[in-house]
Amino acid sequence: MKEIKLDIRIRALSYNELSEEDRRLTDLAKEATRRSYSPYSGFSVGAAALLANGATVTGSNQENAAYPSGICAERTTLFYANSQYPDQAVKTLAIAARTVSGFIDTPIPPCGACRQVLLETEQRYHQPIRILLYGEKEIYQIDGVKDLLPLSFGGDFLSK
Ligand code: THU
Repeated sequence: MKEIKLDIRIRALSYNELSEEDRRLTDLAKEATRRSYSPYSGFSVGAAALLANGATVTGSNQENAAYPSGICAERTTLFYANSQYPDQAVKTLAIAARTVSGFIDTPIPPCGACRQVLLETEQRYHQPIRILLYGEKEIYQIDGVKDLLPLSFGGDFLSK
């Protein structure tokens, strides 16, 4: 038997420690929570993507009375970015979440389905996506999906 240890790196930063560009993207993600449609959960999520050409796009979670028909902020944003700018890699994705009591204290982790879409987006553009998870108390910076979705299943398995 051998044990395989995976090395995952997450940087915890304060808002002031972010670069100006990352602060701007985080602010856009926070702002995007205001456009969330989340009457069922009351959990408003916003995301902002910075693309290789410098464009930014934002999105928010969109719920539905038939619950599984709704979609998370991260996927709304990534799919919107990819459909508007199909030839532009996503460089950074910032995510923020808010309830009626305000922005959540701990960094908002993306769900499994969104991690899978992040993985495919990275693979599509052959470039890691930096991910900023906003929390009021601290912000996590992750340098690529490998630190968010280890042991991942991607399209490369299908051609093996
Ligand atoms: N949600 C997101 O938009 N992103 C996440 O990372 C986690 C969850 C949404 C889905 C649903 O509308 C609400 O938050 C509660 O799960």
